[in-house]
Amino acid sequence: MELIEAIKGRRSIRKLKPDPVPKDVVRDILEAGNWAPSAKNGHQWRFTVLTGMAKDDYNSMFRKTLDGFIEKYGRDEVGSAPWTLEIMEKAPVLLIVWNTNENGWATEEHSVAAAMQNVCLRAYDLGLGSLWIGDVFYAYPETVAYFGKEKWKLCGAISLGYPDGEGAVPKKKTLDEVAEFLE
Ligand SMILES: Cc1cc2nc3c(=O)[nH]c(=O)nc-3n(C[C@H](O)[C@H](O)[C@H](O)COP(=O)(O)O)c2cc1C
Repeated sequence: MELIEAIKGRRSIRKLKPDPVPKDVVRDILEAGNWAPSAKNGHQWRFTVLTGMAKDDYNSMFRKTLDGFIEKYGRDEVGSAPWTLEIMEKAPVLLIVWNTNENGWATEEHSVAAAMQNVCLRAYDLGLGSLWIGDVFYAYPETVAYFGKEKWKLCGAISLGYPDGEGAVPKKKTLDEVAEFLE
């Protein structure tokens, strides 16, 4: 696949088939993540791969946390999170993505975001759908404690699976809205 086709063709896929994703395919996708550029070549990303019961147990914890949040602050305060959780529950694979945060640099966060993009692109390249998930932040301290990763920072999650249909193409800003050329 042409690189530009992957960059422009990748979509956030929110409807996935329940079919399992072979482990070697998941490894291939993570390998692409591991080849991302990183601050001082620090490879600050870490991935926790959840499938089966492990995924169900995490999602149960997330649902409990979200329900508690809604009870305390109201439904309007959780935005798209309940909807995202449904996607996480249906996805055959859920990646929890960490930043080892060894130096506390903002750039360590950037490294992990680069890896996440590589993961999404390689997933698309292999015919899988992915969704970058920031809504796990609604259970930030709970997620860190659940996995015992107190020394790391939670960076997000990515759901993976075989797409059930195509993702809608969102309206993107034009280049001239986002770039300035100074000569
Ligand atoms: C940092 C980040 C967090 C996101 N969090 C969520 C999320 O929690 N739930 C969701 O449905 N989509 C989430 N998305 C997906 C965006 O909504 C999506 O990328 C955007 O609408 C553009 O669509 P596209 O990915 O198909 O180009 C997130 C994307 C990014 C980069």
